[in-house]
Amino acid sequence: MSTIGHEEVISVHHWNDTLFSFKTTRDPGFRFKNGHFTMIGLEHEGKPLMRAYSIASANYEDELEFFSIKVQDGPLTSKLQRIQVGDRILISKKPTGTLINDNLIPGKHLYLISTGTGLAPFMSIIKDPEIYEAYDKVILTHGVRYVSELAYADTIMHELPNNEYFGEMIKDKLLYYPTVTREPYRNNGRLTDLMRCGKLTQDLGLPSLSPEHDRFMICGSPAMLKDTCGLLNQMGFNEARHGDLGHYVIERAFVEK
Ligand code: A2P
Repeated sequence: MSTIGHEEVISVHHWNDTLFSFKTTRDPGFRFKNGHFTMIGLEHEGKPLMRAYSIASANYEDELEFFSIKVQDGPLTSKLQRIQVGDRILISKKPTGTLINDNLIPGKHLYLISTGTGLAPFMSIIKDPEIYEAYDKVILTHGVRYVSELAYADTIMHELPNNEYFGEMIKDKLLYYPTVTREPYRNNGRLTDLMRCGKLTQDLGLPSLSPEHDRFMICGSPAMLKDTCGLLNQMGFNEARHGDLGHYVIERAFVEK
């Protein structure tokens, strides 16, 4: 049996010149955990051209959603950015990933630290009612260069808190912290710097970061992951690996060279 399925594009949304999202149909047999990624792509010259993408929709939704950069000479995204409703997308039937709450030691506050398209897996996780049962507060951070890259801000701030099933939980527990590094905005600076100097927790009205209460899921570029892990390790947090629970888990955000 083939491990690659075909789905149909049902909507496309361009955020700006560099970012877009799209939704596809979902085979009811396609199962995944919130936070997982899978290989997706297009057929090119008779062969599948696929890259790893986090699934931005929740695992109980009827559609699949993906959030992508547009790289003008990227082998896949130069083509993917031109997809239209009705087009066919290839999707691997074997989703996987480490951004799973079961990998974390129980805690009080869950920090979702993302830059760029690293936001995608967290869009799935913040729609998971179980995450709000496990934590007192869930903090979704999104670090970007420019304000126009703050994709999903409106969904996070206005749509989700009014969701008929879990809106109340979101109003009570989800804190959103967008920050912009290359133009003025209400929050400025890299997330690593904001964590190091204590401004992130101060702005949120939360206690200083401590391995006793705080847990992290991190998704960003290799450089961002390296710096964030370095900082957390210095502060006494341990990464969950090889089946051992820890204080944080990491995954690479989608990039295409
Ligand atoms: P900066 O503008 O200072 O480079 P990118 O598009 O390069 O992945 O960047 C997305 C966001 O992540 C930007 O705000 C960028 O800040 C920030 N960033 C890039 N590298 C790091 C890093 N090593 N640690 C923390 N934040 C980073």
